[in-house]
Amino acid sequence: MKTIAVLTSGGDAPGMNAAVRAVVRSGCENNMRVLGIRRGYTGLINGDMFEMNIRSVSDIIHRGGTMLYSARCPEFKTEEGIDKAVEVCKVNDISGVVVIGGDGSFRGARDLSLKGIPCVGLPGTIDNDIACCDYTIGYDTALSTIMDMVDRIRDTTESHDRCSVVEVMGRRAGYLALSGGIAVGATCILIPEREFDIQADIIDRMRRTQATGKTHFIIVVAEGVADKLRDQGIDGSMGLAAYIQHNTGVESRATILGHVQRGGSPTAKDRIVASRMGHRAVELLKDGIGNRVVAMQKDEILDFDIYEALSMTKHIDMEDYKIAMDISI
Ligand code: ADP
Ligand code: F6P
Repeated sequence: MKTIAVLTSGGDAPGMNAAVRAVVRSGCENNMRVLGIRRGYTGLINGDMFEMNIRSVSDIIHRGGTMLYSARCPEFKTEEGIDKAVEVCKVNDISGVVVIGGDGSFRGARDLSLKGIPCVGLPGTIDNDIACCDYTIGYDTALSTIMDMVDRIRDTTESHDRCSVVEVMGRRAGYLALSGGIAVGATCILIPEREFDIQADIIDRMRRTQATGKTHFIIVVAEGVADKLRDQGIDGSMGLAAYIQHNTGVESRATILGHVQRGGSPTAKDRIVASRMGHRAVELLKDGIGNRVVAMQKDEILDFDIYEALSMTKHIDMEDYKIAMDISI
């Protein structure tokens, strides 16, 4: 009987549980022994794992977070750490590992594959910043959460004729900010992929809309623009709200949505994509194929060599940015 293992690594994302469920059930259906590894690569190095069966994953498809827990494991970035993990795989007869996480986790999966343990990566991150994928598990849920939260912020912003700066997650990518900004009709959107000028992109734009009778404003900024703001003398979202108030006279507040975006019950889309991807990962490992990343492009489930996947680049759709600016005025 073949043994495979599954782990979740890096920042958690809604839908990871649905992916774990698909891996475990598909593995069992294919007569495999499936081990669940706790806390990502930390658990792999320490041999913290348990045998799973089809009932181990009952009642989790609708839950956020990850039943396997997640972690960041600096030791796994070292040769010694990887060697320890390889040893644990050998001792436990593990002939394949499904790694659910972001591109950092895929680098680990690549290193482990190189040492003879076939790994398959599943893209799990709310940031949607994995180059080979149009879509990553967790993105849709995070977007819905952003929309719900900003709708609430809008109620109070409107009541007080204020401006609200809302900071959303996205360490290096503006997908959540751009799509979230479109969904809530934000007057201005700042993303790390686009250069901006506070005067032109925010102050002048607010004045233009004020001249047409607008009295409240939602500005969505990606977490990843902090450096660019600093270059313009502004200290984060709080600093931006203060700057806007000073330069427009519109009372302004800042809200950092934070980790609320990472939790909650996954949307239908995240559950379905995670289920399809988890199933594909087991199909690959069943055939002894490793060093792959499962991806979704135009609603199709594909898989790529991890090296190839990590060397790809992905560009945010600037046409979407233009649409947002044309219609949120
Ligand atoms: P994500 O997978 O969400 O991008 P991280 O970048 O934090 O999150 O990576 C998660 C884990 O993957 C790290 O804690 C580490 O154990 C492993 N990892 C990240 N980068 C590498 C690397 N270059 N080589 C080996 N392992 C890595
Ligand atoms: O990668 C997902 C993400 O939520 C980023 O958007 C954010 O910058 C980061 O993780 C925060 O991670 P943590 O708070 O777990 O260190």
